[in-house]
Amino acid sequence: MISELSPSEAQGPDPAAEREARRAARASVAAKLAELETAPVVAAEPANADRDAQRERHRRRLLVAELQRAGAPLDAAEFVCAGDLEVTAAIDAVRGGFNVIAVLGGSVGAGKTIAAVDWLRDAVADPGRWFDGKWYWGDTRPMLFVSAPALARWPRYDAKEMARLLQASRLVIDDLGVEFADAGGSFQATLEEVIADRIANRRLTILSTNLDAPNFKARYGERIADRIRQSGRFVSVAGPSLRVRLASTSA
Ligand SMILES: Nc1ncnc2c1ncn2[C@@H]1O[C@H](COP(=O)(O)OP(=O)(O)O)[C@@H](O)[C@H]1O
Ligand SMILES: [Mg+2]
Repeated sequence: MISELSPSEAQGPDPAAEREARRAARASVAAKLAELETAPVVAAEPANADRDAQRERHRRRLLVAELQRAGAPLDAAEFVCAGDLEVTAAIDAVRGGFNVIAVLGGSVGAGKTIAAVDWLRDAVADPGRWFDGKWYWGDTRPMLFVSAPALARWPRYDAKEMARLLQASRLVIDDLGVEFADAGGSFQATLEEVIADRIANRRLTILSTNLDAPNFKARYGERIADRIRQSGRFVSVAGPSLRVRLASTSA
């Protein structure tokens, strides 16, 4: 089932063919989601209830697979697709909307990664509009989730790899502050380019960090902090770890 979801392996160096392959891959996911959502539901009969449950599981698997394809960690993808998220400060900040960039700052367990992956899920679940027998796409470019350590290893001189960061329809850079800060400032340069370019092209980005605002600014510099201030916001989602709290309430 998951193999049906993979983007066409026939991607050549031709960008038009790549775009078409991506469009086709997303179209097939969207069509399946639409089919699952519009299939007739007849309540009351146990057989149908069974089928509904099966359909719901199938829908979740599709969503999880899409999120994984974007780079989201499996555990977070499964958690957000299981439904019933609490409206944490992080979720509230993301769902409440932001200009083009938001930084979620808070300690480990504050729900930052979950909120960021939920933001991606929102775009997968509503990828376009069905009208007059066709899907109309808001944005067919793939979404991307990268951890800061993965970004630190990103091949900066590979134009195609850089394009994935710059052109993703939604980009999450998770866990800023844990990556190795190279003395040459290579990470800093990549981050600055990605942020500036995405803001200039009004592409939505969420950053998460374990640093508070002053330390974030100290580490990443005035220029990055300024851009974020002008085009988005830094949201402090600090609080007691949800991991600990949930563990203690369920005990
Ligand atoms: N919106 C939420 N509703 C319910 N539980 C949540 C929510 N967000 C996070 N959690 C719980 O807290 C844990 C840590 O969340 P996570 O997003 O990984 O924190 P952070 O990225 O800030 O360290 C999750 O594994 C989950 O158990
Ligand atoms: Mg996290």
